[in-house]
Amino acid sequence: MSSSGSAAPTVAENIMRLQAYVPGKPAEEVQRELGLSSIVKLASNENPLGPSPKAQEAIQSLLPRVHIYPDGSAHELRSALAAFLDVDPNCLVFGNGSDDIIHLLGVTFLQPGDTVLQSDPSFVRYEAAAILNEVECREVPCTSSWECDLDAMLSKVDASTRLVFLANPNNPTGTAIKSADLERFVNALPARAILVLDEAYYEYAKDFDWYPNSVNWVKEGRNVVILRTFSKAYGLAGLRVGYGIMRPEMTQWLERTREPFNVNILAQAAAVAALNDHEFLQLTVATNRAGLETIGNALQKMSLQFVPSYGNFLFINVGVDGKVVADNLMQKGVIVRFSPHFKGPTWIRVTVGTSEENVRFLTCLQEVLAAMRCS
Ligand SMILES: Cc1ncc(COP(=O)(O)O)c(C=O)c1O
Repeated sequence: MSSSGSAAPTVAENIMRLQAYVPGKPAEEVQRELGLSSIVKLASNENPLGPSPKAQEAIQSLLPRVHIYPDGSAHELRSALAAFLDVDPNCLVFGNGSDDIIHLLGVTFLQPGDTVLQSDPSFVRYEAAAILNEVECREVPCTSSWECDLDAMLSKVDASTRLVFLANPNNPTGTAIKSADLERFVNALPARAILVLDEAYYEYAKDFDWYPNSVNWVKEGRNVVILRTFSKAYGLAGLRVGYGIMRPEMTQWLERTREPFNVNILAQAAAVAALNDHEFLQLTVATNRAGLETIGNALQKMSLQFVPSYGNFLFINVGVDGKVVADNLMQKGVIVRFSPHFKGPTWIRVTVGTSEENVRFLTCLQEVLAAMRCS
């Protein structure tokens, strides 16, 4: 104990190396800090149309029952999703967002001496799972066109490889891997490696005929885990509900590490309702397609490079310091994402918004870049 009587709390070395997740700034916070009357938040790949109306009704009707613990087995949601996906209900594990499943996969399957493999840049929580469980994370740089370099990844696979994370479409680049390429990759992995296909943006990409039908790999008994979420196209990010699809031999272990009531009662009911709101999903995907086109055309006119995206966001090369551009956009009430984890100092990521939001972003981006060029 120090002379002042209080000992500094110590933690393990791997916990010291972990970094707290930095989320997109909430709109209310920016509004308060800058005294702005309206804010456009295009930083967290949320649904600009809000939650599905059917999900909102389901939440309303359940409010009188929030004194009761949620169904720990998520029976209704499980049955609805199992029918929707045409899988055995025991193939599903639910999480407090798909973040939760990433965490559970790490805690459950990583042992000393194992390694995690991922493409870089990609979603930051994969590396966090490796650090938390004290294993090495091998990060393989994307190609110069920001595609996942599957051959380079395979060259890093060895007997220690336990979890291989691939986001498809990838965040922040928006690129997607085609079925034939992914099949070759799945076939080349050793038996002990588990391929985690993070399909958080599945609904935006699924209609392309080359997009993988990855659920078939689970049905064939492969060591594949698929992650999906209600946070993006279904518009329920604030409720936190995501799920993993994998062989029941794998779900049985996650059921042991999972918190018993990790998906709350409102989230479960809203997810079932959102799953059945086909109209809302269609509108979401169509709005996103139109927005991608509007922003893409405008960026071309501005001679700005961007990566063709299969998600609900665009990765844009602003040609100058991306952090300064993001900060200056924020001063104008437009929140976009810059991160050193993107591995592109002149790149920002912007979520596709409503048509009004997209126009505001484009107008502000032009103003910011013009002012930076003049200064
Ligand atoms: C690729 C990817 N995976 C997972 C998540 C986490 O989503 P959630 O925990 O909200 O389901 C995100 C969120 O941005 C993401 O981009």
